[in-house]
Amino acid sequence: MVFYFSGTGNSHYAAAKIAAETGDIAYDIAEIVNGRFPTNGKRDVTGFVFPVYYSGLPEIVKRFASDSSTQLNLGVYVYSVITCGASIASADKLLAKTLGVNIDYSAQLVMPDNYVVMYNPSSKDEAMETLSAASNEIDRICNDINERRIVVRKGVKNDIATAFMYPTYNLFRRTGKFYADDKCTGCGKCERFCPDEAIKIKDGKPEWVKKKCQHCVACINSCPVEAIQFGKKTSERRRYCIEKLAK
Ligand SMILES: Cc1cc2nc3c(=O)[nH]c(=O)nc-3n(C[C@H](O)[C@H](O)[C@H](O)COP(=O)(O)O)c2cc1C
Ligand code: SF4
Ligand code: SF4
Repeated sequence: MVFYFSGTGNSHYAAAKIAAETGDIAYDIAEIVNGRFPTNGKRDVTGFVFPVYYSGLPEIVKRFASDSSTQLNLGVYVYSVITCGASIASADKLLAKTLGVNIDYSAQLVMPDNYVVMYNPSSKDEAMETLSAASNEIDRICNDINERRIVVRKGVKNDIATAFMYPTYNLFRRTGKFYADDKCTGCGKCERFCPDEAIKIKDGKPEWVKKKCQHCVACINSCPVEAIQFGKKTSERRRYCIEKLAK
C-alpha cells in the first residue's frame, strides 16, 4: 500500500506513478483521516509519499503516522518518498520516529516549489523542467523499491535543519491571513479541494473556519481565477499546481 498526502498534486503524481510501477495501490491519507476510508488489511510493503513542510511532516501525516492502527498494519518493507522544493532535511527520520519503526528505504524527490505564501513559485518552464527530472528520478526510485534496496539517508546538517525549522510550522500554519478577493465567483472548488475541511462557502464566498490548517496551499494555488490571497504579497506572485501545469 502506498499512503500519500498532497496539496498541489506533486506527491499525488509521485504516489500514483510509484503505485503503477510497483504493482501497488495508492491511498489518500486525507481521505483516511477524515474517516472516508478504512486502513485495515495486511501488507508486505508500505510506502509513504508526501511533501516536506518546514523540514518536517505535514500535521495530517504526523497524525496518521502516530495512529496505533497504522503501526500495527505496517509491512515488512517500509519506504518513504518525500517531495520538496529543495531539501527534505531529516523529515524521513521524523517519520520513522513517529511510526516507531525503522524505514528501510528513503528518497528525497525534488519537485516544483509551491509555497506561494512565502515566495514566488517557479515559472511554468522551470516547473516543467523540474517535473521532467522528477519523473526520471521516480523511475529510479521504483527500481530500488522493486529490488527492496535498503537506503538510509544521514547528515547532521539535515538533523539541525529539522530541529530548528519544524517547530515553526505550528506557528505559521494559521489561516488568519487567507481571504478571497473580488475575482471570486463562488464556484466552491477551494472548499472541495481542502484536505483539512478548513474552508466553507458562506454567502457565495469562502470562509476559513479553522484557526490553523495544513497550509498545503491547495486552495490558493488551485482557484481557477486566482482570487485567494494570503496577506499582502501573494497578489503579485505566480500560482503552482500540477493540474494547471498539465493544461
Ligand atoms: C507549508 C509548506 C512548507 C514547505 N516547506 C518546505 C521545506 O521545508 N523544504 C522544501 O524543500 N520545500 C518545502 N515546501 C515545498 C513542498 O514540499 C514541495 O513543493 C512539494 O513537492 C509540494 O507537494 P504537493 O504538491 O504534493 O503538495 C513547502 C511547502 C509548503 C506548502
Ligand atoms: S475556488 Fe476561487 S473562485 Fe471558487 S469559490 Fe474558491 S475563491 Fe472563489
Ligand atoms: S485552507 Fe487552504 S491551505 Fe489550508 S489546508 Fe485547506 S486548502 Fe490547504
